Amino acid sequence: MSTYSSLKLLFFFLFASLSCAYAQDVQSPLSFHLASGGNDNYFLRDNITAAQLLLTSSNNTSTNLRRLVIALPAGNSGALVYFIPLDSSEELSLQLVSGSFISTTRAFDNAGVQADLSFSGNATLGVTIIGAVRAMRDYVEGAGTMHEIFNYTLWSYNDTFVRLHRRWINSTSENQSVFKGADLYLSVPPESPVQIAVTPGTNGSYTPPVIDILVPSNASGIIRVAVVTNETSLLGLDTEDLFLPESGNGTQGLRTALQGLAEGGNSAADQVSFLTYADKFTAGGWRFLTYFGRDSMIALRLLMPLLTSEAIESALGAVIERANVTGALCHEETIGDYASFINIQNNQSQLGGQPFYDYKMIDTDLYLLPALSHYFLELPQGEGRAAEFLERNATLQNGTYADIIRRNILYNFERAYPFSNKPTFSHLIGLRPGQPVGNWRDSNQGLGYGFYPFDVNTALVPAALRATETLLKAGILDGLALPLKSDDFATIASAWEMHAPGLFEVSVKELVAEKYLKDFVRVSNLSEALLNQDASSIARSNNNQAQVNFYALSLMEDGTPVEVMNSDMGFNLVYGSHVSQDFLQRTIDALQPYPRGLLTNIGMVIANPAYDSNRTNIEVLDRTAYHGTVIWSFQQGLMASGLARQLSFCTADNATAVDINTSSSPPPTWCKNATFVQTVKAAQARLWASINVADLASLSPDGVEADAIQLWSFGFLGLIDPMSNKTIDS
Ligand SMILES: *[C@@H]1O[C@H](CO)[C@@H](O)[C@H](O)[C@H]1NC(C)=O
Ligand SMILES: *[C@@H]1O[C@H](CO)[C@@H](O)[C@H](O)[C@H]1NC(C)=O
Ligand SMILES: *[C@@H]1O[C@H](CO)[C@@H](O)[C@H](O)[C@H]1NC(C)=O
Ligand SMILES: *[C@@H]1O[C@H](CO)[C@@H](O)[C@H](O)[C@H]1NC(C)=O
Ligand SMILES: *[C@@H]1O[C@H](CO)[C@@H](O)[C@H](O)[C@H]1NC(C)=O
Ligand SMILES: *[C@@H]1O[C@H](CO)[C@@H](O)[C@H](O)[C@H]1NC(C)=O
Ligand SMILES: *[C@@H]1O[C@H](CO)[C@@H](O)[C@H](O)[C@H]1NC(C)=O
Ligand SMILES: *[C@@H]1O[C@H](CO)[C@@H](O)[C@H](O)[C@H]1NC(C)=O
Ligand SMILES: *[C@@H]1O[C@H](CO)[C@@H](O)[C@H](O)[C@H]1NC(C)=O
Ligand SMILES: *[C@@H]1O[C@H](CO)[C@@H](O)[C@H](O)[C@H]1NC(C)=O
Ligand SMILES: *[C@@H]1O[C@H](CO)[C@@H](O)[C@H](O)[C@H]1NC(C)=O
Ligand SMILES: *[C@@H]1O[C@H](CO)[C@@H](O)[C@H](O)[C@H]1NC(C)=O
Repeated sequence: MSTYSSLKLLFFFLFASLSCAYAQDVQSPLSFHLASGGNDNYFLRDNITAAQLLLTSSNNTSTNLRRLVIALPAGNSGALVYFIPLDSSEELSLQLVSGSFISTTRAFDNAGVQADLSFSGNATLGVTIIGAVRAMRDYVEGAGTMHEIFNYTLWSYNDTFVRLHRRWINSTSENQSVFKGADLYLSVPPESPVQIAVTPGTNGSYTPPVIDILVPSNASGIIRVAVVTNETSLLGLDTEDLFLPESGNGTQGLRTALQGLAEGGNSAADQVSFLTYADKFTAGGWRFLTYFGRDSMIALRLLMPLLTSEAIESALGAVIERANVTGALCHEETIGDYASFINIQNNQSQLGGQPFYDYKMIDTDLYLLPALSHYFLELPQGEGRAAEFLERNATLQNGTYADIIRRNILYNFERAYPFSNKPTFSHLIGLRPGQPVGNWRDSNQGLGYGFYPFDVNTALVPAALRATETLLKAGILDGLALPLKSDDFATIASAWEMHAPGLFEVSVKELVAEKYLKDFVRVSNLSEALLNQDASSIARSNNNQAQVNFYALSLMEDGTPVEVMNSDMGFNLVYGSHVSQDFLQRTIDALQPYPRGLLTNIGMVIANPAYDSNRTNIEVLDRTAYHGTVIWSFQQGLMASGLARQLSFCTADNATAVDINTSSSPPPTWCKNATFVQTVKAAQARLWASINVADLASLSPDGVEADAIQLWSFGFLGLIDPMSNKTIDS
């Protein structure tokens, strides 16, 4: 062995032991509390585990059930327990003992958390689900759906202790007799006067045992709860691993935005940190502590100027690792015990507990290239890092990152080509066969039952093509040996840019629009005074005929527009290369007070069906619908970020610029029209006035239990309010 290779070996060992040390000690503990949606949420991450614990708030009087949820990103595992007062006439109060929420370990590499709960009275365990968070979600979101296959067993008990064990459906593939699992332990800590009374079920593991918690009268009693699993814990990204340090570099806006993020203790930064890991970004807690492609990439786009290279590459790598052989990108991963369940349902039980990756969405495939191009070509963090990144070998599949990106590029090109050849609606990209959903509005009603979503076809397809073109021109993709040149991508991108938005145009004559608006305020029980807020909203079309112009939410399968005004123009503003003045005018028109536009006094709604000639959509997309007349924080972030980006193409503003966007040279023609630029700025001011009223991260629609923290809602960390030149939470 030459001296050179022994040196290399020495370095290898040094490096290997260092990275090992990193994984175990360097994780600094993270812990915080958030009250949200009638629950107290406690978050914890240290060098043993990461977990979120929710407990029904003691002041939540809407129910007499006290629910405990513990969710861990490790295998997306956890437990859900309802505590019911033993005497139904009594109220049960359940509180977490301050400081008792800590990590814990058990034999066989089990790790998790424990917490002491103080009971005001006697209680019995109600529905209890141990193991897969997805099984817990099925119960909570699916009106009590349970699957016998996920039943736990009563493992051991006495009058101060009980262990409920969940053994995974499938064994670990290395050893047919070894199963992973999760456990819920209840125990009585020393000095607590509580007794646990357990009566086993009579029907094996089918009938749950009766488990009572008995507290002497005139005392309160403490029960220690622990939830552990031997799924592998993930290495979290601490705030200093995640956010760039404050420094003299960059614009004033960037420096303002970075203030306090990296050092820890900033609550928004801590929340983002809890959701991000070296192997992936997770989408939200408690329900979505796993990989979601779209959430990762939208959050990444908005946060990217603030993030370190390592963090950006964690998020990008997670997306690339999960691509399929065809080049489609993964929407959602299913891991842990629930993966077996999905595999069995898909008649693939031979796959055991192998992760299941879902490719049903049509937008996810289109977000990667724009993220790569922004990172490698526009941000200093990405400078000079492409070659090493592209050469990486994937760990979840065969091949290098370059191989996988190449497949995604070709997959997108093939999907986009037919429209460039013949730009008719039937060549747009529609939902996949048998799927009622395909973009971020992924509820059945979300697209107004449309088939061709607006964001995918007008914003994301051209963005993916332009990003590929730009990366090719810069030589970044030379190693991919693509059979196409940058001009091929430019040509089809411009066909999409030129022809796709027109297919979604909706114009409603002024008189008809007024009639619809009056009808809308009446059926929606709104005040007619809302219509008098701003009469300047009626845009004048080219032929001087008064009408309201906007873009349809989607097209039906026969090409008919779903005439719902919506917020998805934000995607074009953030991702688009050649946004026209006409397009911006429609955005300005949509940024009018609701119900003429989208802006309410508590934020921007994502859909407004007031002008739809199909009046049924007023009900379908109302205030209770998941993607109806409701506010989604990340949509406000996109819109605000997009307006900032478009305006930055006219003039650089050092005080508010956080992101770096290469301006097209020459600047867009509308920049020369000072009056028009003023109307864009006025719309921007209206948007900020609307969103500034509410706590951005906490807003979410009704209907489904909201997650206390949602990754893409933190996009506002990368935004500066142009009115105050400050960040939102400062
Ligand atoms: C975990 O972190 C704690 C401090 O937070 C430290 O005392 C302990 O040694 C670490 N354990 C391991 C296994 O690195
Ligand atoms: C309930 O308590 C939480 C703190 O645990 C608080 O944030 C919330 O505002 C309270 N809700 C009501 C309705 O008092
Ligand atoms: C077992 O599954 C059945 C059907 O879902 C459910 O009724 C029962 O409560 C479960 N038992 C346990 C111990 O989880
Ligand atoms: C109950 O079980 C626990 C756990 O095995 C044990 O530590 C404890 O000593 C037992 N208590 C009694 C009274 O046997
Ligand atoms: C996981 O832990 C359980 C005990 O809860 C143990 O029976 C099992 O063997 C462990 N599995 C592995 C792979 O270590
Ligand atoms: C709980 O039940 C036990 C046994 O039935 C009873 O002695 C005790 O008084 C009850 N505790 C409370 C707080 O009601
Ligand atoms: C600031 O920029 C310089 C030059 O690009 C770079 O060397 C330095 O690492 C940057 N500092 C920080 C804290 O990012
Ligand atoms: C996984 O478990 C299911 C249900 O017990 C079984 O049918 C299947 O064969 C198992 N798969 C593997 C790969 O062991
Ligand atoms: C990859 O996903 C796409 C989109 O769902 C699908 O059309 C294609 O068949 C998948 N490829 C493979 C090899 O499963
Ligand atoms: C990737 O794996 C191949 C072997 O399959 C190896 O030759 C190559 O050095 C690896 N590349 C990197 C960057 O680790
Ligand atoms: C990787 O390639 C090897 C050899 O061709 C094959 O056996 C293996 O199944 C592949 N792994 C994956 C995850 O595709
Ligand atoms: C009108 O809207 C409803 C609800 O979205 C939808 O089911 C129906 O197909 C639409 N009708 C037409 C003619 O588009």
